[in-house]
Amino acid sequence: MKYVIGVDLGTSAVKILLVNQQGEVTQEVSKSYPLIQEKVGYSEQNPNDWVEQTVAGLSELLADFKGNPEDIEGLSFSGQMHGLVLLDENNEVLRNAILWNDTRTTKECEEIYEKVGKERLLEITKNPALEGFTLPKILWVKNHEPEVFNQAKAFVLPKDYVRLKLTEQLHMEYSDAAGTLLLNVAEKTWSKEICEILDINPEICPPLVGSHDEVGTITAGIAEATGLSPATKVFAGGADNACGAIGSGILEDGKTLASTGTSGVVLSYEANGDKDFEGKVHYFNHGAPEVFYTMGVTLAAGYSLSWFKDTFAKEIDFNELLADIDSVPVGSNGLIFTPYIVGERTPHVDANIRGSFIGMDASHERKHFARAVLEGITFSLNESVEIFRENGKNIDTVVSIGGGAKNESWLQMQADIFNATIVKMQSEQGPGMGAAMLAAFGCGWFDTLKECADEFLKEDKVYTPIPENVERYKGLFAIYQEVYGKTNDLNEQLMDYRN
Ligand code: XUL
Repeated sequence: MKYVIGVDLGTSAVKILLVNQQGEVTQEVSKSYPLIQEKVGYSEQNPNDWVEQTVAGLSELLADFKGNPEDIEGLSFSGQMHGLVLLDENNEVLRNAILWNDTRTTKECEEIYEKVGKERLLEITKNPALEGFTLPKILWVKNHEPEVFNQAKAFVLPKDYVRLKLTEQLHMEYSDAAGTLLLNVAEKTWSKEICEILDINPEICPPLVGSHDEVGTITAGIAEATGLSPATKVFAGGADNACGAIGSGILEDGKTLASTGTSGVVLSYEANGDKDFEGKVHYFNHGAPEVFYTMGVTLAAGYSLSWFKDTFAKEIDFNELLADIDSVPVGSNGLIFTPYIVGERTPHVDANIRGSFIGMDASHERKHFARAVLEGITFSLNESVEIFRENGKNIDTVVSIGGGAKNESWLQMQADIFNATIVKMQSEQGPGMGAAMLAAFGCGWFDTLKECADEFLKEDKVYTPIPENVERYKGLFAIYQEVYGKTNDLNEQLMDYRN
């Protein structure tokens, strides 16, 4: 039996999957690393923690592996997007990585609009200037830490750094490069124009490759440290959302994904790079060759739930926290939560907005709050579903992965709020499975990723909308949508009181 490995470099942990030729996950390891949050709005990680934990995870996996290491043919990656890793001339990191959920760069976004122009930026990159994207982070370092910036010989994204340390090859691939705001997304080339306007040396942009391209094999040192064979082929991999899409079979028109990790996304396949969503949703290169996807992002999806648990119910686990939410009626007895606890992206690009519980009543218990948090996260994802529908997309079936697919009540809630059939996969590994599929495709096990998906991915269960819940949620969603406009000014004022 042959195997491939999918390494999913997430925000809280790296998850490593060993997958056989039938697409079965035969071993799984997870290793966590800390977030560094020095100030409100800051979110950093030490890139060497990613490498250390990936190597430790691979070693653990190999220690338990019963076969011959040579049977593991290839390895590929899925990675948290947008995080800026600046490298010196020896490919060593110059500072901590500034992550996708770091919102310190509002001024740099304004600088991009002033100098490049909103329309030109959209024409080239198909996306607006958002705090989370990489280019504003590059400008932030240039503006605030010029001595660091001047030493930078290259920048990469999180999984590219881990791949670099595993192979000694420096690359970036299209699906992640799309989230930098420096890529001409339709032409798949770095934009010299944007670099020139913003006085960034285009030489810091690494060579581009495709997601299933082989970049080499692991180094002898890594082979020794992990127990992998030195012949293990390494394939470039993709952005976590692109890999989540691959790992959920979002590989043809009409397919939509709802994913709840730390962030939440609603993502839809796009065959062409020439549509115009006016920047309302992200428009990125897929990990499948020559195609694209569009996507709306809720910054704090799973993060809202883990924040709620850590703050108010630390002593219990998620299952216990959510055990009695079905005894709470739809709408949580008049309690609405907005998940803006680290700002928001879709549909409100706003780093300063903050979350709310609206309608708190003396009768509300913890279970009402827990249900309201799930409903609020799902309402936020529904804002993206609505944008897709307003742009003529038919969204009647949605594959759900991540935390939202681990709880039956939440799956039904998604069906009722999205008013769509929700599909749960048998193995809803999403990004890690997508990474493994890129390795399987790269190794030549299949002619296309779609063929690989047909072999590897199986539906488990479907959840269909319950008409009376759909009606009730329609009314609640309209109220939810009003909360933003009624609280944004208050939150701006409260900015002065945040440290
Ligand atoms: C997408 C985004 C997040 C990260 C999470 O634009 O910022 O979904 O990819 O890792």
